[in-house]
Amino acid sequence: MFDLRLFSIRESRHRIHNPLTDRQLADLGASLDLPAGARVLDLACGSGELLATWARDHQVTGVGVDLNPDFIAHARARADELGVSGAVRFVEADAAGYVATEPVDVAACVGATWIGGGVPGTLDLLSRSLRPGGMILVGEPYWRTTPTTAEALAACGVPSAEEYLPLADLLASFGVLGYDVVEMVCATEESWDRYQARQWLTMRRWADAHPDHELHDQIRRELAAEPQRYAAGARTHFGWGVFALIAR
Ligand SMILES: C[S@@+](CC[C@H](N)C(=O)[O-])C[C@H]1O[C@@H](n2cnc3c(N)ncnc32)[C@H](O)[C@@H]1O
Repeated sequence: MFDLRLFSIRESRHRIHNPLTDRQLADLGASLDLPAGARVLDLACGSGELLATWARDHQVTGVGVDLNPDFIAHARARADELGVSGAVRFVEADAAGYVATEPVDVAACVGATWIGGGVPGTLDLLSRSLRPGGMILVGEPYWRTTPTTAEALAACGVPSAEEYLPLADLLASFGVLGYDVVEMVCATEESWDRYQARQWLTMRRWADAHPDHELHDQIRRELAAEPQRYAAGARTHFGWGVFALIAR
């Protein structure tokens, strides 16, 4: 199990806990033609930026579920700040197995497909909350360049290249599972940097301010290794996208 505190520390300055920028998240929302009042379920919603900004920009309503209490607190504060706390609700809970009480128009899991044991299981989980003809949003890594050496695989944090697919194969796999891919927004090297490199100053400042904390040494160790590991791994090899799917 992850130590949620590490994520809370490293990503305390992030509103979006994935390698998309504010602009890319806004572009995705704008591209989906969401009608006002559309109901959205966001499993593993992080700090709720998708729901809160899309409620502000497109008048969607919805529920976000995440098990990190810090992120849920940020999400509620952000909804208040944007004046949408009457439209969106955030639940601190395990999203694995979470099914909405009323069918939703959009069911999302952006960057946490382990909650369904992988992409097929997560699509199956999301589809259980979805109205017929509704849309699934799934955020998932893919290989931009497939790592071939043991060093590159280690830098990517995977035991083998089988863990992920190249983009074309990932898109084809959605078809095999019975979905049309109707939109996608993908990270760029620059947007990956905003997600990853933005964590390093946060970690350094946190370590300086918490010399006696039990996680201090771990954060210091991670900061010492992370920039090189990122450059050799994710920055070179990983793509990441949010894919919009409608069942055929
Ligand atoms: C990569 S982040 C993505 C967050 C958010 N979707 C976003 O894009 O900003 C993964 C999120 O999954 C959450 N998470 C991990 N396992 C979970 C679970 N079993 N149930 C609910 N949330 C979970 C983490 O707390 C974290 O917020």
